[in-house]
Amino acid sequence: MERDSMLYQDLESILLTKEKIAERVREVGQQITRDYEGKAPVMICILKGASIFFADLIREIALPVTTDFMAISSYGSATKTSGVVRILKDLDKDILGKDVIVVEDIVDSGVTLSYLKNLLLQRGTASLKIATLLDKPSGRRVEGLNADYVCFDIPDGFVVGYGLDYDQVYRNMPDIGILSPAVYEKH
Ligand code: PRP
Repeated sequence: MERDSMLYQDLESILLTKEKIAERVREVGQQITRDYEGKAPVMICILKGASIFFADLIREIALPVTTDFMAISSYGSATKTSGVVRILKDLDKDILGKDVIVVEDIVDSGVTLSYLKNLLLQRGTASLKIATLLDKPSGRRVEGLNADYVCFDIPDGFVVGYGLDYDQVYRNMPDIGILSPAVYEKH
């Protein structure tokens, strides 16, 4: 997709180019390859936002990984602080005794990951780590919740592209951009 295509016209600015993302995803993939030498971690994609990152990341990991997918939904933002998260699609396989890496697109308040971490640890994993494309520390509402692998720390702002959406749109934009406030203020 070209950068003068229609989706890009809704951006205030481009935050991370696809070239910069690819370079960093490669580095993180190589880091995971080194850290898990001799192991075969289960890579868990949290749908839908992480799907693009997940597809690129696993191809940079030179280990016999397996994959599984989970879909969750958090209740509206007002209740997000309560940490109520609903599982829409659970894992297909048991993760007892497995080395698990959860792959997320963004850690914002940390509510989703905090819930997921507790849930998956209860299932008796051998280890559990979190890889996230983006980390927005300014949004954090859960103390001490940090990802183990972070591609980019980002400032406050509404980011879309490379899997991240606004109203389900923009996930297919190859770059990550800040959405113009005019787009969401219309709604
Ligand atoms: C987004 C994102 C994380 C979560 C992060 O998911 O993918 O799962 O929110 O926010 P938090 O740290 O404040 O909990 P969303 O519910 O938008 O679904 P999506 O991945 O399908 O876009």
